[in-house]
Amino acid sequence: MKIAVIGSINMDQTVLAERIPLKGETVKGSDLQYIPGGKGANQAVAMARLGAEVTMFGCVGNDENGRHLIKNLETNNVKTDNIKIVDGEPTGIAIITLGEDDNTIVVVAGANHCTDISYIESIKNELFKHDMVVFQHEIPLDAVHYAIEICHEKGIPIVLNPAPAADVPKEIVEKVTYITPNEHEAYLIFGEGMSEEEILKRYPEKLIITKGSKGVSTCLKSGEILSIPCIKSSIVDTTGAGDTFNGAFAVKICGGDKMKEALIYANTAAGLSVEKMGAQGGMPTSEEVELRIGNILL
Ligand code: RIB
Repeated sequence: MKIAVIGSINMDQTVLAERIPLKGETVKGSDLQYIPGGKGANQAVAMARLGAEVTMFGCVGNDENGRHLIKNLETNNVKTDNIKIVDGEPTGIAIITLGEDDNTIVVVAGANHCTDISYIESIKNELFKHDMVVFQHEIPLDAVHYAIEICHEKGIPIVLNPAPAADVPKEIVEKVTYITPNEHEAYLIFGEGMSEEEILKRYPEKLIITKGSKGVSTCLKSGEILSIPCIKSSIVDTTGAGDTFNGAFAVKICGGDKMKEALIYANTAAGLSVEKMGAQGGMPTSEEVELRIGNILL
């Protein structure tokens, strides 16, 4: 099973704060850490840890952060041959504050901006060799939409995780195989006038809404709303939980699992991921996910 990710590659600069600061407020923090991140790279690592053959497509700057992040992907068995090293642009960074069992993130795109339509054109033949392609919203959106169009034409299954929040044109929603917004992103894309159930019923087994500590919901092809609750976790760092969910979901659904099994697996992987520091630090192996699912069912 070969899965491609086209997305962001960031160096996360993470501080622990006594709590998330309010607007205009200063709070005490500690322990600044530089940790590999970026929604694209995180999802690639999540999938590789779970046993998939993964290729990362994206851009970094010609700097220390870029070299470190490529090495980190390679250490995690993600293929990096197609990552473009861009002169004159810094590698993307994210400023992350951890507090109150949650986080805030400010992303500075840097070289991620160069994952544009001309880059997609340059890698498209490599891209078409994959069984599934996974996207997020941390690279230029016109490039995301263009790549979705050409993968759809080739009949390649597509997962779109529309984070950070931005509208998704209806014709793009039609072309993706799965779309995985959180609640906020779902209302932005599908309209606030409707209930969650109404939105889910419009896109059976395509739309999956993640709801943080409330779990995940979809509508099955039978019309039944399926909601899977979160597992109990000892939270250390919630950064990357959504990425772990998306990576694990892609691996399972690409491997032929049914929707319910894929969601239970992805939810469990995401629950495990928050128990260690860093977006990628807690991403589990398939053995760890299966062990936890077994313990839940006992
Ligand atoms: O989803 C978490 C990620 O969002 C972080 O790793 C950060 O880099 C931002 O892209």
